[in-house]
Amino acid sequence: MKIAVIYGSVRHHRQGVRVAKYIVKQLNERGIDNIFVDAKEHKLPFLDNMYKEYNGDAPEEIENLHQIFDSADGFIIVSGEYNHGLPPALKNMLDHYQSEYHFKPSGLATYSAGMFGGVRAAVHLRAVTAELGMPSIPTTFPVPSVGKNFDENGNTDNEHIPGGFDRFIKEFMWYAEALKAKRDKDGKP
Ligand SMILES: Cc1cc2nc3c(=O)[nH]c(=O)nc-3n(C[C@H](O)[C@H](O)[C@H](O)COP(=O)(O)O)c2cc1C
Repeated sequence: MKIAVIYGSVRHHRQGVRVAKYIVKQLNERGIDNIFVDAKEHKLPFLDNMYKEYNGDAPEEIENLHQIFDSADGFIIVSGEYNHGLPPALKNMLDHYQSEYHFKPSGLATYSAGMFGGVRAAVHLRAVTAELGMPSIPTTFPVPSVGKNFDENGNTDNEHIPGGFDRFIKEFMWYAEALKAKRDKDGKP
């Protein structure tokens, strides 16, 4: 069981990496195998060919991410809200792939500088993840005032956050384990 934590802000002063660090730490503390996929590290070009259109001859970085997404059993998407939608580098990264996501769940962890926790990006992401074949679980993990609620290392002193994350991750892992068991038994249709 391996979970990919996907984060797609590449801004110089990005704040959401704090949420991503918190999530990775929480997964590690629970003994959940995970890999952090940061669009700033995996520098993909603006979408030209999707991975499948390279027919086995994809550039190295696109191939590397294929391997990561293909081997993952679920995806936690850490997303800011840019004009009520998702960050462009995140969408660009997601759009390169397709079958890698199929029959695996996604969990939406959104955040914003203000008080709404990126919930409008989560609404947008529900449609995107459904189309990508990684439907999102019902519970989300919305974080308001991201710069105040987390320090640079992903620590929080907001007493409401751990409980919210606990509900989110328990539900997410339920779906991830259920769908993995079914894929292991019957494969993908
Ligand atoms: C292009 C852009 C658009 C934004 N649009 C919204 C928005 O629609 N709603 C919101 O709550 N915050 C918005 N913000 C503020 C973000 O919540 C805040 O900058 C956040 O830290 C962005 O995530 P990042 O730092 O990980 O890139 C926007 C920020 C940027 C850069």
